Amino acid sequence: MKGKILKILKAGQGVISGEAISSELGISRVSIWKHLRKLQESGYNIDASSKGYQLISSPDALFPWEFPAREKKIHFFPEVTSTMDIARDLARKGCPHFTVVIAGCQNRGRGRLKRLWLSSQGGLYFTIILRPQISPVLSLRVNFAASLILAQTLNNMFDIDARVKWPNDILVDGRKVSGILSEIEAEADIVSFINVGLGINVNNDPTDDEPKAVSLKQLSGSEISRKRLLSAFLDNFENCINGKALDNIIREWKKHTVTLNRYVKIVTVREILEGIAIDMDENGALILELADGSTKKVLYGDCFHI
Ligand code: BTN
Repeated sequence: MKGKILKILKAGQGVISGEAISSELGISRVSIWKHLRKLQESGYNIDASSKGYQLISSPDALFPWEFPAREKKIHFFPEVTSTMDIARDLARKGCPHFTVVIAGCQNRGRGRLKRLWLSSQGGLYFTIILRPQISPVLSLRVNFAASLILAQTLNNMFDIDARVKWPNDILVDGRKVSGILSEIEAEADIVSFINVGLGINVNNDPTDDEPKAVSLKQLSGSEISRKRLLSAFLDNFENCINGKALDNIIREWKKHTVTLNRYVKIVTVREILEGIAIDMDENGALILELADGSTKKVLYGDCFHI
């Protein structure tokens, strides 16, 4: 209902009477008033007078009603431990494909290889629960799709040159704008869910602990609408996942990466490897040429360009 009320207020020029809203939506004026109070408490600047209501300004909020076509599958929390925790619970309880968990900030945000992901206000932190009908072996392609689509979305929306770094980082001029973490649960040979968590530095200022990070605000010189960015990314990513694009995703990804043909150090939970990143296989494993001339495939790890 809040989404519908906001739509009426946004469409109308000037003040709209409570009566007009009430008759358009078929609910009582008291009920309209309660929803408007809630919206005001949530940061919407709505002027209320004896003549009616006028929307003065909206916050850059990520409430479900800001995404009308997806409202039922969006869960927003001002603060959580990690959106990955909430998403895992929802997935195990059977939530539908493409449910999205969004947080205003996280107090125990998780990065790859058990690192902490600092998640202060202003950034974009969300996890998408996917239920693709694919075998676990193909599941890594979903992460590559997420990073490629995000890089393309950023390049289309802002005047930047975002590239992908193996396995799933987004870099602009060598500095990290976004990282992706995923979790998968499978039964026998079928994926039950893949949770893809994205952290994007949008209006937050990366701290001195993240010297190689940069935010979109720093790159573009002005505040960015997280709502617009998230909405565009979700649309693009959903089209990709639900269509046939996964078949060719690695080939496309390779065209946008800064990792291939350079000397890299790969840190996995088991070992540290160094060599030249010569190629990727059809599922995204990195193929390294080691010092002795032999090649080695690495499925997952942290990659340092050296
Ligand atoms: C990395 O680069 O190490 C991956 C970072 C992934 C961070 C995102 S923020 C949303 C989701 N929730 C988390 O706790 N982590 C991911």
